[in-house]
Amino acid sequence: MIKSNQPILVSGVQPSGVLHLGNYHGAIKNWLSLQHTHRSFFMIADFHALTSQAHVQDPRANYRYAMALDLLALGIDPEQACLFYQSDVPQHAELHLLLSMITPLQWLHRTPSFKDKEDKLSHEWLTHGFLGYPLLMSADILLYKAQAVPVGTDQLPHLELTREIARRFNHLYGVAQFPIPEATLTDSPLLPGLDGEKMSKSHGNTIHLSDDPDTLTQKIKRMKTDPKRIRRDDPGTPEDCPVFTYQQLYDASESEQLAVDCRAGRIGCVDCKARCAQAVNHTLAEFHDTRQRLSHQPQKIHDTMNAGAEQARTVATATVSEVKQAMQL
Ligand code: ADP
Ligand code: TRP
Repeated sequence: MIKSNQPILVSGVQPSGVLHLGNYHGAIKNWLSLQHTHRSFFMIADFHALTSQAHVQDPRANYRYAMALDLLALGIDPEQACLFYQSDVPQHAELHLLLSMITPLQWLHRTPSFKDKEDKLSHEWLTHGFLGYPLLMSADILLYKAQAVPVGTDQLPHLELTREIARRFNHLYGVAQFPIPEATLTDSPLLPGLDGEKMSKSHGNTIHLSDDPDTLTQKIKRMKTDPKRIRRDDPGTPEDCPVFTYQQLYDASESEQLAVDCRAGRIGCVDCKARCAQAVNHTLAEFHDTRQRLSHQPQKIHDTMNAGAEQARTVATATVSEVKQAMQL
């Protein structure tokens, strides 16, 4: 990957499950296109996956290999982009520690990911690691001096924190160490899950890219629809129906007609869902074939991830050394 004159891009995904459609539409779709125009660093953020309690209760909750398989089968190209496991690059932890020295506690306390869970988690699991999770993400981004960060809208507060940390570091040490990174959003940066809430691994409402066609069809069958529609011929409101969001993405040429029929009560939710499942399955068929083929080449995946980590370490080592120099270490 020799792309020294291209803008730098960094992003990550937590391996606390396999990839779901929300990850794809909110972030990975952009990874796939931007890898050709940016010097890209994509990490499977396995340190991040340790910041919730799930990994202790279920040791299988580390899906990092499955995640690598998903990303490579989708078309992340190791010739174009650097793909690696975060924990293979210890400089993430080192920069996290260094940045923690200039991060006011209040900045971490006020991030929505912490505030949302502060009252829900038991004291035992309200950990230092969980509080520091957004700062670890800042370290991930600043380590490579990223300018662009493709993420879904749920990550925007973390990106804002990163921008504040970068400004603060540059100001305190009088250096232009870090560029101020910008978020890059897709046109569907917040995809609803089966229950109509944000699709997320932690909400149990996901459709996985690797779900087999039967599983996927069953999941869409039990998806929430417009709550005001009770009988088949009741007029519907497609804008209030998560299934319609999927139709716009997967059955785009027909979605306008489907909306007209739904509003007129001419098509029922059961038929609509069957069509929708068929369209999603059709789109995912090629990915499933590629993933199946790749799954027989574990050594190749292992080698790819090792090579990615080596490239990432070269850049990361240089940044940490600059940061230590600025901090007079
Ligand atoms: P999860 O929330 O399921 O744990 P991650 O936190 O690993 O997923 O998210 C990886 C990327 O996918 C992030 O950029 C995040 O913003 C994006 N993302 C996750 N869920 C959604 C969603 N429902 N809609 C759009 N983007 C999403
Ligand atoms: N925190 C992100 C999430 O939960 C994943 C992530 C880790 C990330 N490191 C990153 C995203 C760096 C962008 C840049 O979705």
